[in-house]
Amino acid sequence: MEKITVIGAGNVGATCANVIAHKDLAKEVVIVDIKEGIAEGKALDIWQTAAINHFNTRVTGSTNDYLKTKGSGVIVITSGLPRKPGMSRDDLIQTNAKIVKEVTEKAVKYSPHAIIIVVSNPLDVMTYAAYLASNKPSNKVFGMAGTLDTGRYRAFIADALNVSPVDIHAMLMGGHGDTMVPLPRYTSINGIPITQLLGKEELDKIVERTKKGGGELVNLMGTSAWFAPGAAAAQMVEAIVDDQKKVIPVCAYLNGEYGLKDVYLGVPVKLGKGGVEEIIEVDLNKDEKKLLSTSAEAVKDVMRVLDKMKLF
Ligand code: NAI
Ligand code: 2OP
Repeated sequence: MEKITVIGAGNVGATCANVIAHKDLAKEVVIVDIKEGIAEGKALDIWQTAAINHFNTRVTGSTNDYLKTKGSGVIVITSGLPRKPGMSRDDLIQTNAKIVKEVTEKAVKYSPHAIIIVVSNPLDVMTYAAYLASNKPSNKVFGMAGTLDTGRYRAFIADALNVSPVDIHAMLMGGHGDTMVPLPRYTSINGIPITQLLGKEELDKIVERTKKGGGELVNLMGTSAWFAPGAAAAQMVEAIVDDQKKVIPVCAYLNGEYGLKDVYLGVPVKLGKGGVEEIIEVDLNKDEKKLLSTSAEAVKDVMRVLDKMKLF
């Protein structure tokens, strides 16, 4: 790919750009931030690791000049406030919705064909805001959460069983919040159902820790996580650039799938160069369906806050 843009040169954006460069996913990755000099500085710092870490992707920075992002194939939006202790992801909406709207409009002007991956919180609703601001089909605008949340879930399982996290395959659905729905029935270690290897009590604890995984890190660090979120967004970029048809949970627009309409929510999708190429509808039992609809309701509550802001 010629060019990838990452908006927001903060913790998540810089990490994401760094991983994209390491994976050599494009000729150029452009980082944009509103704070004078920060994007240029972080881009230069990353670029100076190229000879050390053996990659060729040029890394450049821009203070709010979107002309430099012109012709990007993928745009990752990470701009906005992170969570602080005591804040829920949803508390961020007032500030972040305006930021996401503004940056989406500016970026799409110069890259009308780009696929947009949203990372800013509250994730599901910020993805909806970017969709509205972009005027693009919904399969080209989606959010990153499930890759991160399954990454956490797989790390906790790897610790519990002392096995490689890479061998753990897992699916997780719902919003990026405490109502997310990790699915032990769809979790295996190279095909061996996790339910045969871990007891219910231990699995329940892991599911609960996963749901609160973001908060655990906020409490430890005073701000939200960035290594795993940045890497997770870069993995989605890779699936698009390499047209991998990767089956992963993505925050995607639902139009009747899972009985839900007009809401962005985490579901399994096939991700490739067309963006979300298919939403995969897996069988859910009664309990799982209930958890998913509770999660959709929680996202819709936050959507109502967005509606009241009358930005669109
Ligand atoms: P950060 O504070 O380190 O970086 C945010 C950057 O956005 C700052 O450099 C700021 O100057 C920039 N920014 C603000 N307004 C802007 C504008 N109008 N145009 C361009 N840049 C602008 O925050 P961090 O830790 O990087 O988090 C970024 C966002 O990602 C937060 O909303 C956070 O909650 C979210 N997040 C989402 C995750 C997910 O799983 N979806 C995981 C982790 C973080
Ligand atoms: C996370 O899950 C806060 O959404 C952020 O780390």
